[in-house]
Amino acid sequence: MIEIEIDGIKLTVPQNSTIIEAADDAGINIPRFCYHKKLSVAANCRMCLIEVEKVGKPLPACATPVSEGMRVFTRSARAIEAQRSVMEFLLVNHPLDCPICDQGGECELQDVSMQYGADSSRYTEGKRAVSDEDLGPLIATDMTRCIQCTRCVRFGQEIAGVRELGTIGRGELMEIKTYVKHTLVSELSGNIIDLCPVGALTSKPFRFTARPWELTQASSIAAHDAVGSNVYIHTRRGKVMRVVPKENEEVNENWISDRDRFSYLGIYSPERLETPLIKIDGEWRESDWPSALDKVVSGLNEVIHEHGSDQIAALASPNSTLEECYLLQKFWRGIGSPHMDHRIHMTDFSDQSNADFYPGFNNNLAQLEKKDAVLLIGADVHHEQPLVAHRLRKASLQGAKMMVINPVDFSLNFPTVEKIIVHPYQMAEELAGIIKVLSGEGVALPTNFMQYFSQVNANETHVAMARHLQAAQQPYVLLGAQALNHPQSGLLQWLARCIAS
Ligand code: SF4
Ligand code: SF4
Ligand code: FES
Repeated sequence: MIEIEIDGIKLTVPQNSTIIEAADDAGINIPRFCYHKKLSVAANCRMCLIEVEKVGKPLPACATPVSEGMRVFTRSARAIEAQRSVMEFLLVNHPLDCPICDQGGECELQDVSMQYGADSSRYTEGKRAVSDEDLGPLIATDMTRCIQCTRCVRFGQEIAGVRELGTIGRGELMEIKTYVKHTLVSELSGNIIDLCPVGALTSKPFRFTARPWELTQASSIAAHDAVGSNVYIHTRRGKVMRVVPKENEEVNENWISDRDRFSYLGIYSPERLETPLIKIDGEWRESDWPSALDKVVSGLNEVIHEHGSDQIAALASPNSTLEECYLLQKFWRGIGSPHMDHRIHMTDFSDQSNADFYPGFNNNLAQLEKKDAVLLIGADVHHEQPLVAHRLRKASLQGAKMMVINPVDFSLNFPTVEKIIVHPYQMAEELAGIIKVLSGEGVALPTNFMQYFSQVNANETHVAMARHLQAAQQPYVLLGAQALNHPQSGLLQWLARCIAS
């Protein structure tokens, strides 16, 4: 830790921090556009210029490391002059049509220009116009409003792991483009809407439907990404207008998956089933809830009366909330049936006496990025749980050895050191191959193992996978939905547990 001073306030800050980090921690506001705490430092907007004692020119706070005894001035005449000049340059080409801009009221440029912008422009020439990109059905573009902060570009490259946007041209001609025209494919693409400090990238479904000051915000948990991301639900007069991330470093950091951001649209889909149907004379007829529930009760009573209550079973969607599942079991046990389940995609329950009460991690999400070797089994993780893939990508960027045994060569947003793509029914043999290598290292073979796998011979890939797992300080074995819903799910789980132990 070192001592510095910002605006006369003495601070003790970590040695490797930058001035903007030190100021943020101390609650001192420095204007910025390109800086974002989760992205690399680009230092290309220059909005964060500040004055440092004994330095002859303003310095960008986001790219200047602190040093012992440094005295920083964020509000001195020289700092403010520099910030105002940058703001004037930024507004030279900006359309300034806030009343018709979807970002109005929640725009970083609008806010900062209120503090640092002039009330009139010295620029009388025509402003530049930039053609819009078609990024698909989720993200609307108004590229004339882009200030080329490159947050969206860095997000794709550094966080999503799919470089979908980039810059072309220089100076005034610089533009954010997809290069070859294509729509965004990343499962996290909607996060660039939040990252964009202006109205260049906005939510297509939400666009022009509400202003931020009309919205009421409620905290909630994401229902679709299987990791419980923290979200805010924005409503207007009781109608859900949009969903945005709520920061939680332990779960979703600042991000949410696109399916959680946009799935609220389903609530108001005309295709949604809202009216109960009752089959009368072989035909489905619309009904009301009391009649439909009466029908269910009489149907249940009939079956219980004729066959006994243990002849009925309840299947709950795995998307059900804890409260719904609790009420279902209460109801079901109340009528005398012990048969209920939520594993509606599983076909093999042979390992269920060893299985956890519910599928999950033995770690929290944040710990995933600390793993140094990960074996993924039957997992299309990028698609199934985008935020787990994001944590694994972070682990991979820090040098973790990523290994995969999958029935399909699914796209991943991190590199793998070993990969086995086999027919689904060969996956167990591949795991057995790894176990055979481990058994040669003095690890005891599980009971009955040789009965099933005496014919399996370990190959080079099995050896490499076993070595990576053995050499790691924090190895991790992760089964995905393809493994859990596999016809040999019990066997795969048993083998995975053997490797892990
Ligand atoms: Fe106004 Fe911001 Fe829209 Fe620019 S991006 S027109 S400053 S609301
Ligand atoms: Fe920045 Fe938005 Fe332009 Fe991307 S589109 S460079 S996030 S202003
Ligand atoms: Fe520092 Fe952009 S925030 S240069």
